[in-house]
This record gives sequence, C-alpha cells and structure tokens, in this order.
Amino acid sequence: MKLPGAFYLVLAALALFAAIAVPLAVGRFGSNAVPGWTAAVSPGPLSKAHAFIGDKCESCHVPAGGIAASKCITCHASAPELLSQPATAFHANIGECRGCHVEHNPAAARPIKMDHAILDQVAAKTTGHEGSLNCFSCHATRDKHQGYFGQDCASCHVVKTWKIEGYLHPSPRSTNCTQCHKAPPSHYMMHFSMMDKTIAGQGKARVEQCFACHQTDSFNNIKGVGWVKMH
Ligand code: HEC
Ligand code: HEC
Ligand code: HEC
Ligand code: HEC
Ligand code: HEC
Ligand code: HEC
Ligand code: HEC
Repeated sequence: MKLPGAFYLVLAALALFAAIAVPLAVGRFGSNAVPGWTAAVSPGPLSKAHAFIGDKCESCHVPAGGIAASKCITCHASAPELLSQPATAFHANIGECRGCHVEHNPAAARPIKMDHAILDQVAAKTTGHEGSLNCFSCHATRDKHQGYFGQDCASCHVVKTWKIEGYLHPSPRSTNCTQCHKAPPSHYMMHFSMMDKTIAGQGKARVEQCFACHQTDSFNNIKGVGWVKMH
C-alpha cells in the first residue's frame, strides 16, 4: 500500500515537533509538563512501592532514558537491614541498581530479581576478569554443611539454586553419617544421655552413631519413634 507523499511530510513534521518540543518541555518543567506522553512510552505501571512516583519518570530515568544509580540513591541511602546481612551488604557501594531491580511489572511481589551476573560485572572492574565471586563471603550464613564441605561453594553449587540436579543422598542404611553431618551442641551435653538416648530407646548409642537414632529424611524423624522437635 502506498500513501501520498504529503502524509509523510505531515508525519515527519509532527515527529520533528515532538522530538524537539517534548524533551525541551520535559527538561524544563519535569515529565508532567506534557500531560499524557509519559503513559505512551511507559512499559507499564510501577511496582506498588513506587506507585507514588507515578508518572515522575525522571525520579529514576536520566534524559537519555537509562537508569542512574544516583537517582535511586537519592531516596535510598542504604538501609541498615541490607548492610547488616552479608549477602546484601554490597549495597553500600555497588553503584549499579539495574538488573536486580526490575520495574514496570506490578505483578511481581517486590521489584527484585536477583542477578549474580551484575555482581560479577561490577567485581570484574576491580579484579580484571569475571568469575571471581566469592560465594562464601556472602553466603556463609547459608552453609547447610556446618563447615564440613569447606568454603569453595562454587565447586559444587551454581547461582540459580542451592539444589543440585540429580543429587542422590547416601542410603538410609549408611553408617557414615558423620562424614557429612555434625551433631548439634546439645548432643555433647547432659541432654544427650538424659533425653536423646531415652527418647530414641538407644541407651548404648554413642553420639557418632547418628544412624542408630536418625533417618535421612529429617533429623526430627527418630527411628522407631517418629517426629520429635524440642528446640
Ligand atoms: C522518590 C523516591 C524514590 C526513588 C527515586 C526510588 N525509590 Fe525505591 N522506594 C521508595 C519508597 C518510599 C519505597 C517504599 C518504602 C521503602 O521500602 O523504603 C521504595 C521501595 C523500594 C524497594 C523495596 C520494595 C519492596 O517491596 O521490598 C526497592 C527494592 C526499591 N525501592 C528500589 C529502588 C530502585 C532500584 C530505584 C531506582 C531505579 C528506586 N527504588 C527509586 C522511594 C524511592
Ligand atoms: C546484584 C543485585 C543487586 C543490585 C545490583 C542492587 N540490589 Fe538492591 N536488592 C537486591 C536484593 C536481592 C534485595 C533483597 C534483599 C532481601 O530481601 O533480603 C535488594 C533489596 C533492596 C532494597 C529493599 C529493601 C527493603 O526494605 O525491602 C532496596 C531499597 C534496594 N535493594 C536498593 C538498591 C539500590 C538503590 C541499588 C543501586 C545502588 C541496588 N539496590 C542494587 C539486589 C541488588
Ligand atoms: C522507580 C523508578 C522508575 C520510575 C519512576 C520509572 N521507571 Fe522506567 N524503568 C525503571 C527501571 C528499573 C527500568 C529497567 C527495566 C527493568 O529492568 O525492569 C525501567 C525501564 C523503562 C523502559 C524500558 C527501556 C529501558 O531503559 O530498559 C522504559 C521505556 C521506561 N522505563 C519508561 C518509563 C516512563 C515513561 C516512566 C514514567 C511514566 C518511567 N519509566 C518511570 C525504573 C523506573
Ligand atoms: C556479593 C554477594 C554475593 C556473592 C559474592 C554471591 N551471592 Fe549468591 N546471592 C546473593 C544475594 C543478595 C542473593 C539473594 C538472596 C539473599 O538475599 O540471600 C543470592 C542468592 C543466591 C542463591 C539463591 C537463589 C535464589 O534466589 O533462591 C544461590 C543458589 C546463590 N546465591 C549462590 C551463589 C553462589 C554459588 C555464589 C558463588 C559463585 C554466590 N551466590 C555469590 C549475594 C551474593
Ligand atoms: C562438596 C560439595 C559441596 C560443597 C563444597 C558445598 N555444598 Fe552445599 N550442598 C551439596 C549437596 C550435595 C547438597 C544437597 C543438594 C540437594 O539436595 O539437591 C547441598 C545442599 C546445600 C543447601 C541446601 C539446598 C536445599 O535447598 O536443600 C545449601 C543452602 C547449601 N548446600 C549451601 C552451601 C554453601 C553456602 C556452601 C559453601 C559454604 C556449600 N553449600 C558448599 C554439596 C556441597
Ligand atoms: C556423603 C555425605 C553424606 C552422608 C554420608 C550422609 N549425608 Fe545426610 N545429607 C548430605 C547432604 C549434602 C545433605 C543436603 C544438605 C543438608 O540438608 O544438610 C544431607 C541431608 C540430610 C538430611 C536432611 C537435613 C535437612 O535439614 O533437611 C538428613 C536428615 C540427613 N542428611 C541424615 C543423614 C543420616 C542419618 C546419615 C547416615 C545414615 C547421612 N545423612 C549420611 C550428605 C550426606
Ligand atoms: C542416641 C540417639 C541419637 C544419636 C546417636 C544422635 N542423635 Fe541426633 N537427636 C536424637 C534425638 C532424640 C533428637 C530430638 C531431640 C533433640 O532435639 O535433642 C535429636 C536431634 C538432632 C538434631 C536436631 C533437630 C532439630 O530439632 O533441629 C540434629 C541436627 C541431630 N540430632 C543430628 C545428629 C547427628 C548428626 C548425629 C550423629 C553425629 C546424631 N544426631 C546422633 C537422638 C540421637
């Protein structure tokens, strides 16, 4: 289909006008100066937390359209909750907010989508190469293995999930439990002889013989007794 040349001329003139006038007006008076244009270019409503900035696009966007960390930091001086958790303490000086903080998607419960690749890119600026993330420095509190498997989490884990695809636990008939599991401190106190041995009906078992009293599905499932939860 061919349209008359005049139509294109009008279109081009309109586009030119918009291209000059809108940024000028917006630059001078903020995004509310030209009612309606913001809704037209917005990819969707903001998260609940940010709904109050509604159409004040420049709260987060810089004129060229990108997201500037400085804009976010204007309102978000790093919160103590973030700084006091090892995994999120990087908020003190990360200098990049995009990637992990998604917007214009009000369906998300929170405007957060953790992306380790962003951490990797930022770290690469000082270490010179990617792949230098120290998992343990951020995730020591998640160490399910109580130190038994060392600090090189990345030798077994990836960043997507702590689950390991296809991992099969040793047999419930294994007697090597202590190779991978540590007993809680209570097992090295009076509690063990007074309570645990009695509850399990295993008066002669030593602490290292986890298998005498424990199953492999949960440490609260005591052999021949069932669910026991004390603490
Ligand atoms: C005009 C101030 C302002 C600006 C600019 C701003 N925020 Fe917020 N933000 C808030 C307020 C207010 C809340 C809700 C109260 C709170 O959690 O602090 C909030 C909440 C949040 C939350 C928590 C939401 C939740 O439900 O857990 C995140 C994450 C966040 N902002 C990140 C950002 C990022 C990233 C930017 C820049 C792209 C940004 N904010 C820009 C004021 C602002
Ligand atoms: C590498 C990913 C990543 C980057 C980069 C990042 N954040 Fe976050 N941020 C997170 C995660 C993950 C959480 C959620 C932490 C939690 O819930 O324990 C979070 C939480 C927040 C919260 C919410 C706290 C609350 O009360 O709910 C704010 C505010 C926030 N970030 C602001 C920022 C700002 C500002 C920047 C840029 C200077 C930034 N973040 C950069 C991953 C990131
Ligand atoms: C609370 C901060 C915030 C406000 C206010 C905000 N945006 Fe965004 N916007 C973002 C973030 C963060 C992204 C990056 C995309 C993502 O990862 O979700 C983005 C992405 C975009 C994009 C996609 C292009 C790109 O840079 O990725 C457009 C277009 C956009 N915003 C337009 C608008 C318009 C128009 C308004 C005003 C109606 C607005 N935004 C208000 C935070 C904001
Ligand atoms: C600078 C800090 C930092 C480093 C380094 C880091 N992470 Fe994370 N990681 C986070 C944050 C923040 C989250 C979001 C959840 C949270 O607050 O703990 C997260 C989440 C995860 C999750 C859970 C995914 C999910 O959302 O359920 C896994 C798995 C993970 N990281 C593995 C790793 C591994 C493996 C490494 C090393 C290659 C690593 N991380 C390095 C900060 C870090
Ligand atoms: C020698 C290999 C190895 C090392 C090293 C290792 N893990 Fe694991 N980890 C495993 C295996 C195997 C599982 C069980 C995975 C499963 O059930 O899918 C597991 C499970 C976990 C789980 C529980 C997953 C879940 O949802 O049930 C967490 C959390 C975890 N590891 C954190 C860490 C952290 C943090 C480090 C580093 C300090 C670390 N691991 C080091 C092998 C390892
Ligand atoms: C070769 C290492 C290895 C041996 C041997 C082993 N386990 Fe495990 N076990 C793991 C790993 C890895 C996990 C998953 C990470 C975690 O939850 O601690 C796990 C998980 C468990 C869990 C679930 C823990 C939870 O919090 O959900 C129980 C219970 C358990 N093992 C009991 C046993 C018992 C009892 C024995 C001896 C009969 C045993 N395991 C032998 C490695 C081992
Ligand atoms: C004589 C029997 C017996 C032996 C041997 C034993 N336990 Fe227990 N354990 C129990 C009983 C009973 C409980 C539940 C009561 C309690 O929490 O003290 C328990 C609780 C636990 C819990 C706490 C579960 C919770 O509520 O958080 C863990 C973890 C645990 N045992 C690990 C081990 C490991 C690892 C070993 C071997 C190194 C071991 N146990 C040896 C009887 C035993």
